[in-house]
Amino acid sequence: MNIQTIMVVGAGQMGSGIVQVAAASGLKVLLHDISMAFIDKGLVSINKQLARGVEKGGLTEVRKAEILSRIQPSEQLEQAEQVDLVIEAISENMVLKTSLFQRLDTICPPRAILASNTSSLPITEIAAVTGRPSQVIGMHFMNPVPVMPLVEVIRGLETSQEVFEAVYKLSERMGKTPVEVKDFPGFVSNRILMPMINEAIFTVYEGVASVESVDTVMKLGMKHPMGPLELADFIGLDTCLSIMEILYEGFKDSKYRPCPLLRKYVKAGRLGRKSGQGFYSYHG
Ligand code: CAA
Repeated sequence: MNIQTIMVVGAGQMGSGIVQVAAASGLKVLLHDISMAFIDKGLVSINKQLARGVEKGGLTEVRKAEILSRIQPSEQLEQAEQVDLVIEAISENMVLKTSLFQRLDTICPPRAILASNTSSLPITEIAAVTGRPSQVIGMHFMNPVPVMPLVEVIRGLETSQEVFEAVYKLSERMGKTPVEVKDFPGFVSNRILMPMINEAIFTVYEGVASVESVDTVMKLGMKHPMGPLELADFIGLDTCLSIMEILYEGFKDSKYRPCPLLRKYVKAGRLGRKSGQGFYSYHG
């Protein structure tokens, strides 16, 4: 399978990071979102990241221009008719994802692979709405995408070996270390990370220690780059809650119940960095 042209659907934080590393690896990338305003926002953020690279001296202006020249904004999903692979990075909502995959299935050429960057939704269920379940796979990147070396490559029940190998090799070409994972709730990353974050929230909820103390224990005691509560704000508390719900629903095990404090914060609109307030305040 020769993957040269890809489309990334979703120009948010994850989507634009994926576009950046894909273009840097030599792929031609179409960036699609539901409006030009979203696409422009994604392009601005990629530009900013690359400009930072030039400032720091790791990147030349010529290399930056070369990377940007491989990225093409795409307002029409129909442009997916020319691609070898689509990576979906839209909201974590099964209804939205399945309706997108159904449309992509009718637009994309028969050879095309359809990948989802979902952090926890079942790949097998997404694949089942298409006529090509053997060509549907999970490619779970970590945030910030240009920095984190991991990609979880998730096989759906029907994913073919050929598709798995193509996506595994592509992840390596994108400078990442792929890890093979089966399609189970939360895969590996979020099955382990989210209960830790949820437990950190319970620790604050039960008054064991303050937000800062919990984070300090994990940063200094376990050498985590960010404390779990700072990381929760970075990921987005709504995303953390939705992943915990998927784990709870998927395993029907009370150990995955979301902390009431997490639920309360999300209900109040305290979503972390993106809303300006989470466990910490980001109002400047
Ligand atoms: N995009 C691109 N590059 C970024 C970046 C961003 N958003 N944020 C930081 N960087 C780069 C910086 O430019 C810097 O690069 P150089 O070393 O080349 O100078 C490097 O990352 C380190 O950044 P800083 O010095 O500014 O800050 P730091 O040392 O505190 O690192 C961090 C920042 C990389 C985010 C670090 O704190 C970290 O690794 N945190 C944990 C992140 C993590 O756990 N991510 C996974 C989240 S879970 C997930 O994504 C999956 C899911 O499904 C929820």
